[in-house]
Amino acid sequence: MTSSEIINFYHSVDTETLSKKANLVCESIYGNKVYLRGLIEFSNYCQCDCLYCGIRKSNPHVQRYRLPQQSILEIVKAGYKRGLKTFVLQSGEDSYYTTKMLTEIIEKIKLLTNNEAAVTLSCGMKSKNDYQSLKSAGADRYLIRFETSDPKFHQYLRGGISFKRRLKALEDLKTCGFEVGSGYMVGLPDETEQTRINNALLCNELELDMLGVGPFIPHPKTPLKTASLHNIELTIRATALARLLLPGANIPATTAAGSLDPLGREKVLQVGANVLMPNITPPDNKKNYLLYPGKICLDESGFECMGCLNNRIATIDKKLSLERGDAKTRLCATP
Ligand code: 5AD
Ligand code: FES
Repeated sequence: MTSSEIINFYHSVDTETLSKKANLVCESIYGNKVYLRGLIEFSNYCQCDCLYCGIRKSNPHVQRYRLPQQSILEIVKAGYKRGLKTFVLQSGEDSYYTTKMLTEIIEKIKLLTNNEAAVTLSCGMKSKNDYQSLKSAGADRYLIRFETSDPKFHQYLRGGISFKRRLKALEDLKTCGFEVGSGYMVGLPDETEQTRINNALLCNELELDMLGVGPFIPHPKTPLKTASLHNIELTIRATALARLLLPGANIPATTAAGSLDPLGREKVLQVGANVLMPNITPPDNKKNYLLYPGKICLDESGFECMGCLNNRIATIDKKLSLERGDAKTRLCATP
């Protein structure tokens, strides 16, 4: 199907039919495998002030932390020992970690893991030169969600930072040779069905390798605290549409989906998602990385989650995979 045929299909069928089709497409490419990524939230300092985000700089209630290089490497070592082959280093936009510090961390991770593990960065917008240095140091993938494809709304939500600048960052990352990931929240205030369709179409245009779609959950200490909370259905439909438009992309079942609905991750894994990201940040720190309230697995080590996730996905006939799991974007693009 072409992208406009997919949109017609999306409009004309019920969620069950849409979901079945998305799962079929996903399984035709990734089988019933669910790739595991170890998520390390290494700093919750952020110089941005996005209206939706719990760790925005003007939230004074956050207990801020930064993990030193040694702690990050120890977490990676423990994760690699348990078989993880992708580590996602995520933080707020925190210039304390210079590009030089990050390149050193990346190089050491590569050494520690005999060059077997992929390193994914999710630490905000930087200059093209910085991206280049991070890539040369061995980083493989980079995530920057665009959050919403509506340029005016984007600028409003992100404290004046322009949508164009965000797209330029994604383009730079691609030029530097990264596997590129982006994505958006579902159920933001004032968002319409057309916004959600445009979001998915933009992901298709960008030919993303990774695509994160998660529900927006209002945080009580942010300006969007009174926004309404939508149920998981919106995220289910958005994930299915994303899979149809980007058949070969890696699509995670987000922690936000699991936080909104106790079976949220299982539900989206049945409609096209194929990745889970156990949070291997030390429990003492992860409780302070609250982008939204009600985040799950705060007391678990992340390694405990790996056992739990295994049991959970057995109930939906999927199985965890410890492969590195590169994206298959180029094998199967939608025109
Ligand atoms: N609810 C859900 N997701 C959120 N994010 C940030 N704040 C929230 C929230 N209140 C998402 C953004 C960001 C990702 C790391 O987490 O999409 O890019
Ligand atoms: Fe963390 Fe189940 S996934 S405890």
